[in-house]
Amino acid sequence: MSVSNKTKSALFYVVILLMSCAIVLAFVFPSPLVAVLPVAPALMLMPMLRQKHIRQIKWSNDYNLGIDYIDEDHKKLVHLLNQFSIAYDYAQCEEFERDALHELVRYTKYHFRREEALMEEYGYPNLEAHKEEHKAMIDAVDGYVKIYQEQGHESLKQVTNLLEFWLINHIKEADKEYSNYLERLGADVFDID
Ligand SMILES: [Fe+2]
Repeated sequence: MSVSNKTKSALFYVVILLMSCAIVLAFVFPSPLVAVLPVAPALMLMPMLRQKHIRQIKWSNDYNLGIDYIDEDHKKLVHLLNQFSIAYDYAQCEEFERDALHELVRYTKYHFRREEALMEEYGYPNLEAHKEEHKAMIDAVDGYVKIYQEQGHESLKQVTNLLEFWLINHIKEADKEYSNYLERLGADVFDID
């Protein structure tokens, strides 16, 4: 964790402590002047709380391919990416951040293997090109992990945006392409509602 984030966290706790003290004082010495004391730390806290607004990806039904277990995998990846955003933006605990990154990478690899097995099973003609896209993504995330191990928290600044951009575009284009192929083929993999 970087020094700046440690300082931010420490400030956050100091302001909370000041607010608690001010509230206790306001009870012990009830007067209009003392009653407004908790307001000062609260005002200090507000800009910090505004900074804590974390971007979260919302799942859209447009991303569904109609293949149950693949859609569940994609939702899980979005969830893990959101978890990672929280871990990164709060940066309260290095272990939480590291675990969130590793779980995201682990599940991405697991999901790619499942997708590739499915495409292989039904003889998808663009399998090799699709595998190349997966490989490029795995190389990129492995690269992030390596840089993270060397440089820590700050090196992950752009990771969430890049992963979000890649994942959503990949689902909407490359994944949609193979699911259309499976649909045309009449593959028995689609969820019937
Ligand atoms: Fe894919």
